[in-house]
Amino acid sequence: EKGGYETFMLKEMYEQADALADTIFDRVARGDGVDLDEEGALDEAILSRARRIVIVACGTSYHAGLIGRYAIETWARLPVEIDIASEYRYRDPVVGPGDLVIGITQSGETADTLAAMRLARERGATVLAVTNVMGSQATRDADGVLFTRAGLEIGVAATKTFTCQVAVMQLLALRLAELRGCLPAERIAELVAGIRRLPSAVAEALERLGPAVDTLAERWWQGDFFLYLGRHVGLPVALEGALKLKEISYISTDAYAAGEMKHGPIALLDEMTPVICVATDSPVLDKVVSNMQEVRARGAHVIAITTEGNDQIAHHAEAILPVPRTDWMLQPILAVLPLQLLAYGIARRRGLNVDQPRNLAKTVTVE
Ligand code: M6R
Repeated sequence: EKGGYETFMLKEMYEQADALADTIFDRVARGDGVDLDEEGALDEAILSRARRIVIVACGTSYHAGLIGRYAIETWARLPVEIDIASEYRYRDPVVGPGDLVIGITQSGETADTLAAMRLARERGATVLAVTNVMGSQATRDADGVLFTRAGLEIGVAATKTFTCQVAVMQLLALRLAELRGCLPAERIAELVAGIRRLPSAVAEALERLGPAVDTLAERWWQGDFFLYLGRHVGLPVALEGALKLKEISYISTDAYAAGEMKHGPIALLDEMTPVICVATDSPVLDKVVSNMQEVRARGAHVIAITTEGNDQIAHHAEAILPVPRTDWMLQPILAVLPLQLLAYGIARRRGLNVDQPRNLAKTVTVE
């Protein structure tokens, strides 16, 4: 059942290209645009009516939501609020008609996410579920559903469902942009082409990253603290990388907006600290590079996720993990791959059961 892989998590990481192809292709089959209603589970009128978007989710799904926020704001020019579901449900949120509340939940059964969705619906908002499981509670509680088509995920650590959630949020953002007439047709066509290329880019990345990730895992598996830094869409990637490492290797991690480093976490740095920086090409890359220099000046070790072909960043890092180039808003799907693999390599070297980490459940049906 593991298809020759040593663990479900490893199998599921390597299934990401196929899972993304299944999630993406039907939805970009018609010419240069996006179609989200091909399963009849989403009436696009609910998208046209939205005046504001609210995203609620937990854990890894929340990180996918953070990436979705950048895409929706940038492409569709709609205001987006996002909160952790367990916080949202207890803060008496201002929500109602005109709001489209998106609950992102792989399992479709997470108690806090369902409660946040129900609360919003009671207050008159329209609710959309983004889930991987047909027939799950989230599909029954929502006005519309967008499925990730990642296939069953058994490893407790979300991997393929995360990249598929990000793809769905990007497709949704593009569709909203189309419906609202926010982006020129050429830009939409360019982004659709970029999204279509993601599955093969993921396959390439997974194929090429192995040796570099192994070297790093071997160097750092005994570490006791890792800091992750990123800006803009690189920030949720950093958050997700830090979560992957802590949940399967039990190593303490912190993830921060790189610009916040000097407001506190820089005090943690010393000659023993590996700092993972998401430094793929983007309009904020120069800023990330300055943060990398600050890290090095404290004697800590920079490991940078970079874009293939950008040879400059290597001068500022002790090690680099390059991923294929794509539009910078789409980069998270590729940039997270080396972080998943690195967490895996470290946890396995520590002899841990990555498929069933201690204290964690795949589906959290109690709050
Ligand atoms: O099923 P959900 O997406 O609602 O689950 C939410 C979180 O429990 C989940 O993403 C968790 O953080 C991951 N398993 C971590 O890898």
